[in-house]
Amino acid sequence: MPVSGRLTVVGIGPGPADWVTPAATAALADAKELFGYGPYLDRLPVTLGQTRHCTDNRAELFRAEAALTAASSGARVVVVSGGDPGVFAMAAAVCEAVEHGPTAWRQLDIRVEPGVTAMLAAAARIGAPLGADFACLSLSDNLKPWSLIERRLRLTSEADLVLALYNPASKARPDRIGTALALLAELRGGTTPVIFATAVGRPDEWIDIGELGTCDPARVDMRTLVLVGARGTRIIARPGLPPLVYSERFAKEA
Ligand SMILES: C[S@@+](CC[C@H](N)C(=O)[O-])C[C@H]1O[C@@H](n2cnc3c(N)ncnc32)[C@H](O)[C@@H]1O
Repeated sequence: MPVSGRLTVVGIGPGPADWVTPAATAALADAKELFGYGPYLDRLPVTLGQTRHCTDNRAELFRAEAALTAASSGARVVVVSGGDPGVFAMAAAVCEAVEHGPTAWRQLDIRVEPGVTAMLAAAARIGAPLGADFACLSLSDNLKPWSLIERRLRLTSEADLVLALYNPASKARPDRIGTALALLAELRGGTTPVIFATAVGRPDEWIDIGELGTCDPARVDMRTLVLVGARGTRIIARPGLPPLVYSERFAKEA
């Protein structure tokens, strides 16, 4: 039988309030205790009677355990996540904590409310680059070795998949994105479309559409989602208007 507490992992999308689903908004309003990275909690309206627990961005497991402990004591707890909570975010950290934590945590009412993930927000700004088969990778080597990331870049290129790259850069690893883009240019060709979509949905949003052979990796930071085209990805020039980017729906063996 479930114990009385509830833990909901809520996705608040990449930025604008009107990209947050009504179900996520309802879960946030219902919470007594909110756990999350400070800048995400700052995006939410203050609700009387709620307690906020801000934690560091890299303290995911600690945050998940603290939230599960609070839910075990009977509280209605929300863990806030940017974008979608299941994409390189808090839902997996909560599941990991449940698997390795006290048996009682398995009896909690645990829910996940989806949100708009960055790759879908970025794609929607420019057309339909994810309209064909695609893969999505995190370039962070905090939780996996760089050699595995390079292998996945090679295999997704061999499979001719459009790529969405999360966590492309950070202060601790500013050069990795240059290495990744150079490898992708070698594997896919220098004229392959590449999109740098930074801070999508926020006031400082900035989107660059270019090609792998000539793009500038210095343009990428930790707020950027990188999209790399496959063979069927096209850029449609439109005089006086931003280009449209899309990936053809049909594909054949090379
Ligand atoms: C730890 S991941 C979290 C992803 C998040 N759960 C999601 O579904 O979008 C953080 C990465 O997401 C991407 N990202 C998050 N918000 C973004 C935004 N507004 N614009 C562009 N990229 C964003 C960036 O690649 C960033 O480094």
